[in-house]
Amino acid sequence: MNKSYSRRRLLQTAGSMAAVSVLPLTWVELAFAKSEQNFTFAYISDSHIQHIKGSQFVNNWDRGLIRSVAETNLISPQPDFVMFGGDLAQLGTRAELDHGAEMLSRLHGKQRYVMGEHDYYLDLGEYWSKLFGPQYYSFNHKGVHFIVLNSVLTTDEWTYKRWPTAEQRMLEMAGLDNPNGSPFMVGEKQRAWLADDLTGISKDTPIVVFSHSPLQKIYKGWNFWTDDAEQVQALLQPFSKVNVIYGHVHQIQYNQIGNISFNSVMATAWPWPYPQGYAQAQSMLPKLTIPMNRADPFFERDATGWQLVDVNTGRVDLNYNLYSNRSRTVAFDPKLGHPADKQFQGEAVLAPNQVHY
Ligand SMILES: [Fe+2]
Ligand SMILES: [Fe+2]
Repeated sequence: MNKSYSRRRLLQTAGSMAAVSVLPLTWVELAFAKSEQNFTFAYISDSHIQHIKGSQFVNNWDRGLIRSVAETNLISPQPDFVMFGGDLAQLGTRAELDHGAEMLSRLHGKQRYVMGEHDYYLDLGEYWSKLFGPQYYSFNHKGVHFIVLNSVLTTDEWTYKRWPTAEQRMLEMAGLDNPNGSPFMVGEKQRAWLADDLTGISKDTPIVVFSHSPLQKIYKGWNFWTDDAEQVQALLQPFSKVNVIYGHVHQIQYNQIGNISFNSVMATAWPWPYPQGYAQAQSMLPKLTIPMNRADPFFERDATGWQLVDVNTGRVDLNYNLYSNRSRTVAFDPKLGHPADKQFQGEAVLAPNQVHY
């Protein structure tokens, strides 16, 4: 695609929908080593659709998802597909999953799904799978190998033996800082599947992994954590270009461990605070992770939204479309060798962490 042509198209679209959204204007066009095809996909995550009773749902969470779907449908050219990053439901009920699925069905084009813990722990993913298909799988698209994992599993003891009812199990896992929760893991079965899936993929094939939890260890107290992260990373490290995109943390984070770039996505529902700004929490953020400007606690929609992802040179650039109509880009910087925030990198532009709650 011609650079100026694609940029002009985006600008035209941005102008025509200025009241709705500011589209990312960063449009890096670099020849893709193998396929010579750059492309985009959209990423919507963590909508937490919450049933009240009867036909009532929490309106605020509905609105976040509806707006993301509408804005994604307005993107021109259309993204190749849309990922939904997990936590579609709040408490995993059929009412919530059905209601969320109905809103997502308005998306134009192909959709794919990642399992979140809020979708999983009521019936262990049974109804979700009926609606959305397998919980882990891979596919190839324009020279990139995509892998989807269910990273929100935990021990059999916690899952099957500890709680008297499925409802209680769901509630225990739903809390951010509930000590009764349990660290997430990908687990042995999926790690064996992943090792097998990667057999025969050439080492220079770009890989994009979608998970719900981070596939790195950020802060255990809030389950921003995957217990077998190192083992999963070890399977991915032999490949030269690996990108992990995760939801769950409801904030912008990025990091680089060896060959693996990590990018989080925002929620459409609400922002979580940042672990290192939380007075009781020891910072476990990896060295290179630079959190975004902290959310405004008086604006429940601050730091929520959806993202458009550019895939070029086998790396991903995340264009964050914030609810406030601001846009923000975290792109892989080849000189630095890790993802970098285009706008909010320096100390001077970071809002101070909130220390009083
Ligand atoms: Fe979530
Ligand atoms: Fe989650």
